[in-house]
Amino acid sequence: MTQLPGLLDTEALRKDFPILDRVLHDDKKLVYLDNAATSQTPRQVIDAVSEYYERHNANVHRGVHVLAEEATALYEGARDKVAAFINAPSRDEVIFTKNASESLNLVANMLGWADEPYRVDRETEIVITEMEHHSNIVPWQLLSQRTGAKLKWFGLTDDGRLDLSNIDEIITEKTKIVSFTLVSNIMGTVNPVEAIVRRAQDVGALVLIDASQAAPHMPLDVQALQADFVAFTGHKMCGPTGIGVLWGRQELLEDLPPFLGGGEMIETVSMSSSTYAPAPHKFEAGTPPIAQAVGLGAAVDYLTSIGMENIARHEHAITEYAVRRLQEVPGLRIIGPVTAEDRGAAISFVLGDIHPHDVGQVLDEQGIAVRVGHHCARPVCLRYGIPATTRASFYLYSTPAEVDALVEGLEHVRNFFG
Ligand code: ALA
Repeated sequence: MTQLPGLLDTEALRKDFPILDRVLHDDKKLVYLDNAATSQTPRQVIDAVSEYYERHNANVHRGVHVLAEEATALYEGARDKVAAFINAPSRDEVIFTKNASESLNLVANMLGWADEPYRVDRETEIVITEMEHHSNIVPWQLLSQRTGAKLKWFGLTDDGRLDLSNIDEIITEKTKIVSFTLVSNIMGTVNPVEAIVRRAQDVGALVLIDASQAAPHMPLDVQALQADFVAFTGHKMCGPTGIGVLWGRQELLEDLPPFLGGGEMIETVSMSSSTYAPAPHKFEAGTPPIAQAVGLGAAVDYLTSIGMENIARHEHAITEYAVRRLQEVPGLRIIGPVTAEDRGAAISFVLGDIHPHDVGQVLDEQGIAVRVGHHCARPVCLRYGIPATTRASFYLYSTPAEVDALVEGLEHVRNFFG
């Protein structure tokens, strides 16, 4: 068995994930390499959600009865856990949403309805990058169409990194918001946050970081990032689906208007007007995803018990090994950084002229789960002149043997397609 320095004890860890024992197509052991799409769920999280429904289920912030109080304590307790996990200065800066897309859309809409000095209009500019997930492109296109603001973006270098050579022309005095991903979901590139944040701060622009592919994999410290907003999702970090997070600086959350209106986000309501509850409740209209937040809290406990530094070290070792082994496959081209430095554990590639959907299907027949397509980052495929990629993405339970299985699987693909 291949041993690499820095690996976690995956034999023990994998016992926490019942799904990893699945055998597919009669006799193929599941090799789950689609973690950038969604991670698997440990027993500890499944149990926390079940226990919530079995013992504590009620609506939050509304009732005086025991169950309502327990549900509220669990929901708000999850907020405390998330705040500690990302080193937020205050728990009131943590807003629960349904996913990262909703978190990103929420910021776009806060700015769309804001007064000066945050107002986005035809005199102002919005900056994103060519490697964003569609969820960090489309909300800004919508905002630009609605307000007349100009949408600008950083392009990409041939090796899958951001081209910051024209940073002073892209981020200008007119820029209101710079929104970019910390780690690319399609190429795994880790972006240089400091250089972008520094320039944004110089011109007084706000910064939103999409940390969907970072929060599950490395220590995340919102104070160290020095951004104004950070978005991520629960289901990529061992949590349930249906729960996302938006962290925002308190004074911004106080100043900016809500987007969704409804119960729980108000202070008073009359027939002609309303006043709003303080953040985070101002941004959480209606019954929130309570069980999902409880599950996310359990996921945070789980990841913390392993240690985010240890997880990052494990994934670095696996990624380095995978990049090396994949490059040995004849005809395989990695789309994105080919070093293990400054890259996350998602690796996209093309295999000769075999269509990624065919690659994915032959791998699936061997029990190997990867994602194929444009990965909701179609501009990246357009930039590199390819219709799609095959993406293998690793997590804390991934093993060198699974990398070997992928490489062997790709040999089958090559043989199958001659
Ligand atoms: N954002 C997820 C992915 O990259 C769905 O696959």
